[in-house]
Amino acid sequence: MLAQASPWHTHALQRTAAGLAEPLAVPARMEWTTRPGQGPGADVLGPDLHGKRLLELGCGPGHNAAHLATRHGSHITGVDLIGLQVRRARSHYGRLTNLIFVAGHALHYLQASEEQFDAIYSVFGAIGLVTPELLLQAIAQRLAPGRVLAFSVPHPERGGRSPSGDDRPRRDYVTLPDRTRLPIARWEFSMARWEKHLSRAGFRLTSAQEFRDPLMGHWPTTLLLRARKL
Ligand SMILES: C[S@@+](CC[C@H](N)C(=O)[O-])C[C@H]1O[C@@H](n2cnc3c(N)ncnc32)[C@H](O)[C@@H]1O
Repeated sequence: MLAQASPWHTHALQRTAAGLAEPLAVPARMEWTTRPGQGPGADVLGPDLHGKRLLELGCGPGHNAAHLATRHGSHITGVDLIGLQVRRARSHYGRLTNLIFVAGHALHYLQASEEQFDAIYSVFGAIGLVTPELLLQAIAQRLAPGRVLAFSVPHPERGGRSPSGDDRPRRDYVTLPDRTRLPIARWEFSMARWEKHLSRAGFRLTSAQEFRDPLMGHWPTTLLLRARKL
């Protein structure tokens, strides 16, 4: 059974088995990188997020969504492919207001929705794991001109790799809590290739930042991009 499950399901299953998903305190910061406390916080999404409608694609256990709903008064929808992750997120933060967690594929959720958002974001979430040509177009449909899309992805040069030379996905691995690795497909684009895809979908890239983590050697670990809908 597990051999056929999504690696993200197996990941969530191992996390859940490791401990009960209990109510958690709301994180004090929004995290975009692999190293907590590093880099910008919620300000990437805009200066005043109070009352803003935000969508997170691939929210996992919901820490960033909880931060935005509670500390910034935003209205958040967190979508995750894996029902078990959504259950975890609800156990951690389901008591909070202005916050809902939905199980579903990011692309299908966007395509099935008529809703407009003030910003859409992903932190090592669905962006980079779903065909960018389709996902960025679908995101663009849900944002009015001037609205923000921000996302972080594992840096394409982490550990000495090189970014993809074409638009196809590459083999990557999810490392499970028990340290085994399961294969996934990931789009490993350079900044310039992301910019090209963003531009085709109707976005202008407004910032690109890379971050390092001393524990992970001298290569950059995280790429954080921010764009505006044209
Ligand atoms: C590395 S985790 C990041 C979770 C969270 N954003 C965080 O920073 O803690 C990636 C998450 O993306 C979800 N995911 C993968 N593919 C997805 C898709 N197509 N649609 C929605 N969520 C997806 C996985 O289930 C997983 O919870």
